[in-house]
Amino acid sequence: MNRMLLVGASGRLGREISAAAQEKGYSVIPLGRNDIENISEFFTPTKENSIFKTVIVDVSLPEGTEKIADQLVKLDTKHTLNAWVIGTTGHSEELTQKIKMISSKTPIVLSSNFSRGVFFLEELLKAKTVTGKTVAELAKQLGFDLALWESHHTMKKDAPSGTAKTLALAAGISSDKISSTRVGSVVGEHSIFLSQGAEELRLTHVAHSRKLFADGAVDLCERILKHGLDKRLFTMSDALNQLMRS
Ligand SMILES: NC(=O)c1ccc[n+]([C@@H]2O[C@H](COP(=O)([O-])OP(=O)(O)OC[C@H]3O[C@@H](n4cnc5c(N)ncnc54)[C@H](OP(=O)(O)O)[C@@H]3O)[C@@H](O)[C@H]2O)c1
Repeated sequence: MNRMLLVGASGRLGREISAAAQEKGYSVIPLGRNDIENISEFFTPTKENSIFKTVIVDVSLPEGTEKIADQLVKLDTKHTLNAWVIGTTGHSEELTQKIKMISSKTPIVLSSNFSRGVFFLEELLKAKTVTGKTVAELAKQLGFDLALWESHHTMKKDAPSGTAKTLALAAGISSDKISSTRVGSVVGEHSIFLSQGAEELRLTHVAHSRKLFADGAVDLCERILKHGLDKRLFTMSDALNQLMRS
């Protein structure tokens, strides 16, 4: 049976993930702020724990991720935790180091965006053309100037978004060519502008609702629990690329 320990379950995204995971038959256990320090109970070798394949899905805030990391560094989760899927961004250097350390005993996927459309856009930018160059390299060779713009709701704390940074890296766009807008309740929009002379291309991903992130997160968990991941740190695209080869 599949079990999801969900941190951030009371939040906007957490509520969507909980519903999507339960629809797929997961036993969803919401872990609130004060439950994280007791997380070891899910990894002790009991008969009940042994019937589950377990993933932790973390859609809290970096402080929540830090609390989980502080517990997991102390635990032996080699055989009891199938993966820790982290959907938070804006981690400190110290937290990043802890996450790396934990990934030697538990597969970890760091995903700034659970959307399958954003994964596809990233792959598109990195895809090799018949010239042997990537799409992004070819665009530059053809004289296109590239820039990225992203828009999110006013509650979003970090700017540019983690997704903007990931897409900019894939397209070779420097940080001074990324612009961010925080307005109203926009779920998320990312556009890559390719401009040259009198012509322009726009590659745009629009998130119409948080459900797409929830469905993407559950789809990722399904693939991990079906095929398994190595014990190391993955980005969303690394993980999906490995899992979709299986
Ligand atoms: N990867 C993706 O595709 C993706 C997409 C959208 C958002 N996100 C990320 O997902 C996270 C949640 O977004 P949201 O819009 O759902 O935010 P939200 O509605 O503000 O929810 C935040 C959740 O985190 C919990 N939380 C906050 N601080 C915590 C702590 N120190 N320890 C444990 N839990 C804590 C909150 O619990 P309380 O009820 O106790 O406050 C709440 O359940 C953010 O980090 C956001 O950047 C990721």
